Amino acid sequence: MEHTTSLTQFIIEEQRRIPGATGDFTSLLNDVLTSCKKIACAVNRGPLIGLQGSADTENVQGETQKKLDIITNDIMVQSLEWTGHLAGMASEEMEELLPIPEAYPKGKYLILFDPLDGSSNIDINVSVGTIFSILRAPEGCENPTLEDFLQPGTEQVCAGYTIYGPTTMMVFTSGHGVNGFTLDRNIGEFVLTHPNLTIPEDTEEFAINMSNQRFWEAPVKRYIDECLAGSEGPRGKDFNMRWVAAMVAEVHRILMRGGIFMYPMDEKMRARGLTGKLRLMYEANPMSFIVEQAGGASSTGRERIMEIAPQGLHQRVPVILGSKNEVERVVSYHAEA
Ligand code: AHG
Ligand code: MN
Ligand code: MN
Repeated sequence: MEHTTSLTQFIIEEQRRIPGATGDFTSLLNDVLTSCKKIACAVNRGPLIGLQGSADTENVQGETQKKLDIITNDIMVQSLEWTGHLAGMASEEMEELLPIPEAYPKGKYLILFDPLDGSSNIDINVSVGTIFSILRAPEGCENPTLEDFLQPGTEQVCAGYTIYGPTTMMVFTSGHGVNGFTLDRNIGEFVLTHPNLTIPEDTEEFAINMSNQRFWEAPVKRYIDECLAGSEGPRGKDFNMRWVAAMVAEVHRILMRGGIFMYPMDEKMRARGLTGKLRLMYEANPMSFIVEQAGGASSTGRERIMEIAPQGLHQRVPVILGSKNEVERVVSYHAEA
């Protein structure tokens, strides 16, 4: 039988390379992957067990929640609250941060997550995902405050996502590159299938919601216009376009074959008092950590996303990430404007 490396083995071996590591982080990551396996099951069985459709409730962002938004959030909370590795949690689907219940021991980490990313894809059977970001809690902290969570992305200990597509995959970084694992349902384990993922520096593929074109700012308009002009335009080459409407799927594609993903600031959002579409703490920061670790770049167009000093748990930011040379080009167009 061919030898394979499971995610569990991979993280234990990674731990052995860190002098003084207690195994706490390894254990936390194991609990996260267990919760993602449970979510994979729920997402997979969907309509068979009545899990499609709207829950007719709204989250703190004023978005209508899908039944699976709530169920996957519950799965994350229930799988992680008892473990003793966390001091607190925060989620897209919970207005306030969630302290660990009195009954359980407190740990030294904080986790933030988007339990189901791209949830509008659920009812049409297209890829969705889970995104997580792990931070260190302040020394000896048992009851974390909001300030304890509001650390810049550069402070992340680990970031990852699971994509529930034709196969279920987990991709993560703890600051030593990016590795991808595929869920082998026969043995119930994630197996290392995509070691040392890197993003090509150049690309001919962009992802942006074109229906917002008339609301974009000038630098983004210029960049996309030049891509669309193709081989006859200033870029001198043709571009391809994709839009899955799930950031997890867009980032995954970029890790597999390069590309640039943008959810930029626009006039429509500005008019509604929004500072972007995607959320800094549990979408933009973890994805930026992964992308940078794979050799890509991530910016709002004006600053590196991971250096933003967060103002709130649900803060929104413009996101431009992916192949380095393309992201740098968009950033330079912002600087020139
Ligand atoms: P969520 O389902 O967690 O609210 O996130 C959806 C996000 C993101 O994943 C995706 O890139 C974007 O919203 C899609 O936006 P449009 O509906 O404008 O295409
Ligand atoms: Mn999301
Ligand atoms: Mn979500």
